[in-house]
Amino acid sequence: MDHFNYRDGELYAEDVPVATIAERFGTPAYVYSRATLERHYHAYDDALAGRPHLVCYAVKANSNLAVLNVLARLGAGFDIVSAGELERVIRAGGDPGKTVFSGVGKQRWEMRRALEAGVRCFNVESDTELDRLNEVAGELGVKAPVSLRVNPDVDAGTHPYISTGLKENKFGIDIGEAPGVYERAASMPNLVINGVDCHIGSQLTSVMPFLDALDRVLVLIDTLADKNIVIQHLDMGGGLGVTYDREQPPQPSDYVTALAERLGDRKLELILEPGRSIAANAGILLTRVEFLKCTQHRNFAIIDAAMNDLIRPALYSAWQSIIPVTPHNEGEEKAWDLVGPVCETGDFLGKDRKLRLQAGDLLAVRSAGAYGFVMSSNYNTRNRPPELMVDGDQMHVVRRRETLEEQLGPESCLPE
Ligand code: LLP
Repeated sequence: MDHFNYRDGELYAEDVPVATIAERFGTPAYVYSRATLERHYHAYDDALAGRPHLVCYAVKANSNLAVLNVLARLGAGFDIVSAGELERVIRAGGDPGKTVFSGVGKQRWEMRRALEAGVRCFNVESDTELDRLNEVAGELGVKAPVSLRVNPDVDAGTHPYISTGLKENKFGIDIGEAPGVYERAASMPNLVINGVDCHIGSQLTSVMPFLDALDRVLVLIDTLADKNIVIQHLDMGGGLGVTYDREQPPQPSDYVTALAERLGDRKLELILEPGRSIAANAGILLTRVEFLKCTQHRNFAIIDAAMNDLIRPALYSAWQSIIPVTPHNEGEEKAWDLVGPVCETGDFLGKDRKLRLQAGDLLAVRSAGAYGFVMSSNYNTRNRPPELMVDGDQMHVVRRRETLEEQLGPESCLPE
């Protein structure tokens, strides 16, 4: 459920007509709904209410400061993968003490910064990373809280680019090797073992792979207990899917209930790192049709948003719903390819979409709140779009449209 709905034949974002947003701020533009973000966060937090838990929103999904701030105000924790994301969390009023630091390539300065800020835990992805973290913590005279990200070797059944829990993926430590690595970690003077974590992939539409992973991780936790290594928290990562088309992923409450059943009365604190399921359907990409170009083979609607603004269709062949802001009741319905101005054949946001279109129409690309703006680029020297947040009947610019000066500023020609 989200707060982008039609009222009297017009698309609204909460209580604001989307056409009004386009008039005021131009297109293309990302539009987020505060109420939707809050609703999705609560879906997790409320379902977990009976047990110790922390919902660590995966910052990478949408790292706009206002998005982070809305979640921080609800008491969210955060999952970060760089020192840059840590700075965002801090600036947005988030609590580093509720922040877990994931990622396979943490640099020394990033570890230092995270230790100084007092992050909740490092999700360590390799043996060699343990050594580095132990050294950096030693230099600072502190103990680094550690969880090992294990790779449980389950098939998440999702797109290969976003599947991470298989043996052949670069992520995590093979679960079979994990007890030995935990023992090494336990012997290091500047580390404190806190937890175990896994993240098996993204856009999962069934709970089964999560439960398979959980079962394997629980066996590991028991093995570790036999070695006097006590695990306090279990971090199941993110990955719950959303409805882009006809997928019917479990609701966060179904997912959490299934996990809780398996956990029984174990005293583990449960950490989750949802990104997409909080942010995706809390955002649209608003775009305008520039030209209609009908050839003998295809009907193209050339829109002002492109692959540089939203790369998911080009990169993963992702399908995102594209709907008219003000649907026409008349005119011929045709199958349109919605393509951007970028010079690549892969520059499309949707293909074969049945729509009644006229030049100048506004369209909304749905489910664009996650992995949308954050993956945008300046390809073709296009300014990145603004990000706007609707809150009831209010509109806020939470990142203004980029200017050409900002793009070109850091560059220079060779000396004469
Ligand atoms: N935790 C870790 C360690 C992750 O690597 C990820 C996502 C998450 C949490 C959040 O997963 P989510 O709840 O959003 O599924 N760009 C791709 C998605 C890449 C996901 C990467 N890792 C896309 O647009 O589909």
